[in-house]
Amino acid sequence: MNVLITGANRGLGLEFVNQYLNRGEEVIATYRENNDLSNLNELKKKYQATLTLIPMDVSSSASRNKALSKVKEKISHLDILINNAGMKGKSRIKLGNLHEDNMSEVFDVNSISPILVSERFSQLFKKGTKIVNISSQMGSISARENTSDFIYCASKAALNMFSKLLANSLRTKEIIVIPMHPGWVKTRMGTKSAPIERVDSIAGMIQVIDSLTQKDSGRFLDWQGKELPW
Ligand SMILES: NC(=O)c1ccc[n+]([C@@H]2O[C@H](COP(=O)([O-])OP(=O)(O)OC[C@H]3O[C@@H](n4cnc5c(N)ncnc54)[C@H](OP(=O)(O)O)[C@@H]3O)[C@@H](O)[C@H]2O)c1
Repeated sequence: MNVLITGANRGLGLEFVNQYLNRGEEVIATYRENNDLSNLNELKKKYQATLTLIPMDVSSSASRNKALSKVKEKISHLDILINNAGMKGKSRIKLGNLHEDNMSEVFDVNSISPILVSERFSQLFKKGTKIVNISSQMGSISARENTSDFIYCASKAALNMFSKLLANSLRTKEIIVIPMHPGWVKTRMGTKSAPIERVDSIAGMIQVIDSLTQKDSGRFLDWQGKELPW
């Protein structure tokens, strides 16, 4: 299977790369340039033939176009696209301290970019392709009780809506789209206080992704396959 993962140089993205390579899949790991690629370079030494590293800043149209050209030199179709790249923005910021500059960047990376990446790469989709947008339970409007993280929560709620519209749009082509919550996981974003290890979250999500069928398209699932409220 061909799997493409965005934001793959660290955190959950890197662990997706690791586990898919481990079970023999062809993996395209995309990353933002000028960052630490030591983990991906280590994996490349071990998986010369099956790992391809391609730069892509998901929020840049030029970078998305360039990445697509490079991906097309490697593969003719995608079985799985994981829109994983994301950012938290300033955490625990409450009403009265919202930062305009930061808000649009978080929306751009978390909500708009995954849908534009999907649209750009759609020429590589075929019947049965699965698109997984890494969302968050913090994007669940009905479950929200907090008074902070306005922009992160809203950006993931928007990603959920985009995912639903994408699922509706691709249903006749039998392409599956879901937003998925990875759990609260130990990463730079999740912090050390998170209760879930990366290996467990990713193993769970891969199992859920394997089991997806057409009837799951447009559902909001977590890393254990549980349905979440919108
Ligand atoms: N960890 C959790 O508990 C948790 C919970 C719910 C949802 N999530 C979601 O899971 C996903 C992965 O998060 P994580 O915990 O692994 O966070 P992380 O450790 O902070 O990693 C974020 C990744 O996204 C990349 N990224 C950010 N902006 C990008 C851009 N414009 N173009 C390309 N790559 C970009 C980062 O690349 P750089 O190294 O270049 O910055 C990094 O690889 C995110 O969508 C996040 O919202 C995480």
